Order: sequence, then structure tokens, then C-alpha cells
Amino acid sequence: MGGERIEGEIRLEGAKNAVLPILAASILPEGDVLIRDCPDIQDVHAMAGILQKLGCETQWQDGSMLIHNGKIHNWEMPDALSKQIRSSIFMLGPILGKMHRATVPYPGGCEIGIRPIDLHLKGLRALGVKIVDDGGMLYCDGREMHAGDVYLDYPSVGATENVMMAASLLPGITTIHNAAREPEIEDLQRFINAMGGKIQGAGTQLIEIEGVESMHGVEYAPISDRIVAGTLMCAAAVTGGHVRLKNVCPWDLVPVSAKLQEMGCKIHDMGADLILQGPEHLHACSPLQTQPHPGFPTDMQAQMLAISCVARGTTVIVENVFENRFAQTADLTRMGAHIHVNGRMAVVQGVDHLHGMQVGARDLRGGAAMVLAGLIAQGETIVENIGFIDRGYAHFEKMLSALGAKIERISLRGG
Ligand code: EPZ
Repeated sequence: MGGERIEGEIRLEGAKNAVLPILAASILPEGDVLIRDCPDIQDVHAMAGILQKLGCETQWQDGSMLIHNGKIHNWEMPDALSKQIRSSIFMLGPILGKMHRATVPYPGGCEIGIRPIDLHLKGLRALGVKIVDDGGMLYCDGREMHAGDVYLDYPSVGATENVMMAASLLPGITTIHNAAREPEIEDLQRFINAMGGKIQGAGTQLIEIEGVESMHGVEYAPISDRIVAGTLMCAAAVTGGHVRLKNVCPWDLVPVSAKLQEMGCKIHDMGADLILQGPEHLHACSPLQTQPHPGFPTDMQAQMLAISCVARGTTVIVENVFENRFAQTADLTRMGAHIHVNGRMAVVQGVDHLHGMQVGARDLRGGAAMVLAGLIAQGETIVENIGFIDRGYAHFEKMLSALGAKIERISLRGG
């Protein structure tokens, strides 16, 4: 039900987009890896399933994931599981780095775009990997792999991470030019270095990997999830609420905080905590363009679009990173929003209120955006297909109800 303020405090867990590449890199060391603060989300469990198929043992124990890679023997990725999650492509680099062979299915695109992997393959070929793309399967021969220079035509997060992992055990110095600079890349560098790797430059556009002979196991706590944090900030902002987010890195949230402050929020950086006070009514922010980090994160675009629906004024949103990330605008319009979409641009004219109704998630962040809309819509909103949301938010409804929302998970009759 809409109309409740989102108020209270919550501690953020590890970031999905940090944990997924870290899980992939967990096959590299001689020794076990324990990931603390591991979020209980579908994509993490799917990735653990892929590790098991490669011969690893994984154990989920109250918020931590233990990976025992001693018996890893298989360099062939399971087709079914790999298609289940896009991030299975992150396994390519570490499997090659560890076994110098890899057979992986071409990962499907997903709801938000085609999501090609040409930059991943270009980067690995620059390291001497021979790759045959045989209609849906990639046969990779890395027996003559070598360190080298990689230039990424676009600062792709996944391609940057794959090359980092492939090169960590490769003798010599590998450089990545025009590397992605997301905080999750820096976290992967910290993780690999904690296992004895030698990487520097993550967070800048030039990353240097000095291959080491071997790496050892480690216990590691990844950075917290800035996108979950940003989503909760939007929930408090749009309901005139007040939240204290604990275990966050306010520095990583600057692009989101800046836009929410423009909309009238008061935000206080408390070091490892962040406090947000929402205004009685949001104002439209200046035009929002998604960009690679440190620009505005594409994973927060849908949430900002949803809250802009009830902000005073007109908001222009340009989605520069993915080609299909406005899917939820149809349902928002049915709820009473005034949105005009033209290609990569959406123009949102704020309205006084939205009407609750039955809507559906079409992708992970768009699904979260629909829940935000339900928090402020008049009456009841039912969001279907919440499996999309479960991929990236651990028990989202429990998170929000602990902060005052009237929300519950239901099973639809005959659904
Ligand atoms: C990561 O995806 C994240 N996923 C995404 O989060 C995030 O939106 C994205 O980075 C951008 O920040 C994980 O980390 C698991 P990219 P990734 O390679 O690595 C194009 C979420 O909601 N591209 O930086 O796939 C691509 O099509 C998810 O948590 C190529 O053209 O993103 C896209 O337009 C969604 N060729 C752009 O680059 C390539 O080889 C950015 O993609 C690779 C990418």
C-alpha cells in the first residue's frame, strides 16, 4: 500500500556486482576463499552453482560463502546455468587464467540490451588466447597465453574484470587501457591482491597486472551495494522519509546524492554511514545522463525515473549505457505518470500522484523502480515477476517493511 514514509536505519550487505566477479576469481588461488557479507540473492547462488559444476565445493553459511576450489577440474561451463545469468561470462577470464582452456556458451543478452562480449574476446585475444566462436559456444585455447597490452574501445566493467582475472597468474606485465573505473573494479583488485596478486591502478583508466606464480586463499568482505543503497535513498526521498544507511561508502554514491539533493533531499555523509531526509515534495532535478563511473550509474536510472514521476517540474533522463532500460515506463504511465520516451531519452512531467494497480517487473532495476512507485501510489499496487528483483535485492520486501513500508510478498492465485 502507498503512503507510508520510509524511516529507520539499515546496514547494507556486500555488493552483487562486487561479489559476482569475486566468486569467479575464487578459483584462482591454491586455497579456500571465504566471502563475508555475501548477499542472499539469486545471481550469487546461480554463480555458486556454476562453480560447483566446475568442480568447486561451495557452502553458504549465515551470510558468508565458502569456496573450496581444490578439486576444480572442468573448464567447460554448464550451458543451462550459464544462460541463467549474464555474469557467467565473468568465469571466462579466471578459467583461462587457472587452466588455460575454456569452453563457455555465448551468454544470452537480457532484458536491458543485447550485451555483446566483443570487448571481452578482444581483450583475451590480446593476451594470446585463441577463440573459436562456433555458433553459441566459445572454444578458447590459452595454452600460449602471454601478458600484453589491452585497449578497451569502451570502458566495459565485465571486460576489464575478465582481463584482470585472466592476467593475474600470467608471467609479465599486462596493462588495460581505457579500463572501467567502477568501485567494484577497485574491490576486485583489493580481493586479488589480498590473495597475493599484484594489480594496481583500479579506479583509474589504466590498470597494470603483474602476474604472480600462485595465490593463496583469503577471507574477504566486499564493498557494500551502492545500488541497493541508492534504491533505499530513493525510497526515503519519494516518501518524505528519513533513513540512516550503515556500512556504505558515501563517496561511491556522490552522483546519486548530488541528484537527490537537487530534488530537495538533505544528505549527510557520516563516514561509513549516510543519512538522507526527504522533502515534503520532490522537485525535478536537472537533466540526468547515465555514464560509466564516475558518471551517473545506469543501474540507478530506473529508480530515479520512477521518483521523478511525482516530482514538481519536468525531468529529462538519457540512458547512454544500455539500449533498452525504459521498459517500466509503460506500467508507470498506466499508474498515471506522464512520460514521453524517444529512443534513449525519457521526458517525465511530474504529476501529483500515481494510482496503485497490478504491474510487472521486466528487469531487475525496473522491477525495483515499480516497487518505489507502489510506495507512493494511492491504494494498492501489485508487482508481478518479482524474480527479477530477487536477482539483485535480498528479501527486498522485508528490507522495506522494516523501514515502515506496507509491503508483503504474495503468491497470485493461479500465478
Ligand atoms: C556490469 O555489467 C554490471 N553487472 C551491470 O549491472 C552494470 O549495469 C554495468 O556493468 C555497467 O555499470 C555486473 O557487474 C554483474 P559493461 P557489464 O560491460 O559488465 C557494452 C545490474 O543491474 N559492451 O560495462 O555487462 C554493453 O552492451 C547490472 O546490477 C559491449 O559493447 O557492463 C553496454 O552497452 C545490469 N561489448 C556497455 O558496454 C562488450 O564486450 C556497458 O557494459 C561489453 C560491453
